[in-house]
Amino acid sequence: MAEALHRSGPLVLYVDDDRTNRIVFEQSLGEFNVRTAPDGKAALEAMAEHEVAVLVTDMRMPGMSGEELLRVVKERYPQTIRMVVTAYSDVDPILRAINEGLVARYIIKPWDRNELVQVLRWACEASTFARDSAALHRRLLETERLVTLGSIAGMLVHDLKQPLMSLIVNIESLREMSKDAPAIASAVERSELSPAMRKNLVAQVNDLGALANDLRASANHLNEMINGLRELGRPRDTALGGPSSSDPLPVVRHAIAVCQELALRGRASIDYDGPKALPHVRISATELTQVLINLVSNGAQAVAARGVPNGRVRIRARQDDADHTLELQIVDDGVGMAPEVLERAGTPFFTTRAEGTGLGLAQCQRLVGTAGGRFRIESTQGIGTTVTIILPTAA
Ligand SMILES: Nc1ncnc2c1ncn2[C@@H]1O[C@H](COP(=O)(O)OP(=O)(O)OP(=O)(O)O)[C@@H](O)[C@H]1O
Ligand SMILES: [Mg+2]
Repeated sequence: MAEALHRSGPLVLYVDDDRTNRIVFEQSLGEFNVRTAPDGKAALEAMAEHEVAVLVTDMRMPGMSGEELLRVVKERYPQTIRMVVTAYSDVDPILRAINEGLVARYIIKPWDRNELVQVLRWACEASTFARDSAALHRRLLETERLVTLGSIAGMLVHDLKQPLMSLIVNIESLREMSKDAPAIASAVERSELSPAMRKNLVAQVNDLGALANDLRASANHLNEMINGLRELGRPRDTALGGPSSSDPLPVVRHAIAVCQELALRGRASIDYDGPKALPHVRISATELTQVLINLVSNGAQAVAARGVPNGRVRIRARQDDADHTLELQIVDDGVGMAPEVLERAGTPFFTTRAEGTGLGLAQCQRLVGTAGGRFRIESTQGIGTTVTIILPTAA
């Protein structure tokens, strides 16, 4: 087994079959996060468990030789900086190792502490640099994908506008018709239909108004989102015609209504837990709707994934007068997130759901951030998730 001292910083793994060498190495390099292993097998076990920044190995070892170990590590962990410590007489295998790109540096035994410290500092920095540039590369790829997404969005806006306009026109006709609901209801009452049928029809006719209003709210939201898509890729300041504010309660109610069906399918309930009146917040109603719908949907999906009845998604609200902010929390008792999921949640395109796009949280973070708010996710696997957004209140 590999032995470890518990220090922090990039991990240096030293492999040597000689116990005294291992102890000396560990004790004389206090500034580094050193772990040691007595042979190649133990070294590979340690590397499977921990991210090793620098591998320093002896060449001559019983079982797997240093050269064999370096070959495996080069294949499996190409980002680890590899070095050998060896006796001067072993010059042939060292040259071979260098020529084949198996090692970046070699250290001659008996080693000089100062020289070793210099070499290890260089190796740790090189490893950190390589990791950061890999992260930068990933971010560049994401930006590239967002640009592509922007142009796809442009085409979508164009194609969606037409059917949406006809939907809005029809909803308006429905609203007009619903104005006649009292007259139609009283005609039905006077008709010769059976009492049960009359009751049923009157109830349906009386619902028309509310139904048409709900449809209009959803269509308006869709329309604003489609307009928002057009702004994707343009700088925010010019996209928004100045700061806007909204009353959060109608938005909360609308988000709950939109997510209700999803929640019912997952046998969950969604409720609001907060004051009856809330201060206006400095974010547009469309944007706040997008944020809440995304977060409540995520909560309902997490509850459904858990598969236990009576799951809950709660929207909690708390006003902080001193801080001039409103805190909204979306709390669910769904599956929760494993630490590695929590770490990546909110990165564009990261999703664990087969039908997910992985853009929900990224979009929420962007919208809340642009509104000058704060965004936080806390989650425990098997317990649930709490997403907190803190928004500045309007003067
Ligand atoms: N409330 C939650 N409980 C558990 N896991 C969550 C929760 N919210 C988000 N996640 C995890 O974070 C991932 C990313 O969420 P995000 O909303 O960004 O994308 P998505 O829900 O997968 O897809 P979509 O783009 O359709 O929203 C999810 O796939 C899921 O693994
Ligand atoms: Mg989502």
